Amino acid sequence: MKAITVEPKKPGSARYEDFPEPDVREGSVLVEAVAVGVCGTDVEIVEGKYGWAPPGKTRLVLGHESLGRVIDPGPSSSFKAGDLVVGIVRRPDPVPCPNCAVGEWDMCTNGQYTERGIKEIHGFMSERWRIEPEYAIKVDASLGLLGVLLEPMTVITKAIEQVFLAGQRAYWEPRTVLVTGAGPIGLLAALRLSARNLQVHVLDRAETGPKPQLVRDLGATYHTGSVLDLDFAPDIVVECTGVGAVIADSIQKVNSGGIICLTGVGAGGAAERATADIAAAVVLKNNVIVGSVNANKRHWYKAGQNLAASDPAWLSRLITRREKPENFQQALVRQPDDIKVVIQFSDI
Ligand code: BGC
Repeated sequence: MKAITVEPKKPGSARYEDFPEPDVREGSVLVEAVAVGVCGTDVEIVEGKYGWAPPGKTRLVLGHESLGRVIDPGPSSSFKAGDLVVGIVRRPDPVPCPNCAVGEWDMCTNGQYTERGIKEIHGFMSERWRIEPEYAIKVDASLGLLGVLLEPMTVITKAIEQVFLAGQRAYWEPRTVLVTGAGPIGLLAALRLSARNLQVHVLDRAETGPKPQLVRDLGATYHTGSVLDLDFAPDIVVECTGVGAVIADSIQKVNSGGIICLTGVGAGGAAERATADIAAAVVLKNNVIVGSVNANKRHWYKAGQNLAASDPAWLSRLITRREKPENFQQALVRQPDDIKVVIQFSDI
């Protein structure tokens, strides 16, 4: 079969190449790939900045935002041939740490977790892949290609859960939310938060393209420019850019008692404001800054419900480009109006 593979930490090593059929030890359910979403993490892996091959191997099959069709459900699953499934990304560490021991692999504390397509286990950018039945999530057939949005939806389902859990520490009536960054994660955050009794604002650099209207169609307000210029102090910030200046501005701008959830992974940047000044603002306003990564089965289950309950016409506007596997290099290069680019392996 063919797969998109990379030698982690080696820039420019990604290839679409012949690759052995998936090993039965990777799971008893055999799946035909339908599509795989491309995200910033994939770009980082291809640029040689992140990622780990399986032990003893040099190459890693890329891809963690999956959608596939069951070919063979195997002897021990409740799936049927033809079911649409998505694979959970992370596996608990083998020690296990207390969090992995109770199924909270997203909160792994010793860092020995593994992740499909990212850390030591092959991903889903291959014509066929295998998965353990307990790590495959069936998606509503009516979702079709939109099932590929399940993984990003799990990330935001966890992040929003974290915000409201943190909010329990005191009496709290949040009214306004700011989402920074209108990529797939930011837009899915806006979608989910606008389903609550909150005024949702989204800030992004883009002045044209599909993002402003997608936000307005949620009944939310779209902004460009600086967070500091907004005429309100948000009770919740869901930070989806990973850009240092946007993070520092958000901490400065957030309301008293407000909660900032960081979901973006950035790097570097100038130290625009002194750490102690940022900390002082957080102290004096009783703010919470909560980082959120990955998702456990509870979030996958809820995200599946959330996705199936969302307007499919709105969701489909998030998938702005489909590329063939042989053109994966084009899929990795961001174009101005891109939101979610998917690599499509087979028809749906
Ligand atoms: C994935 C997460 C993963 C994280 C860190 C993200 O792109 O969506 O599942 O935990 O990268 O590797």
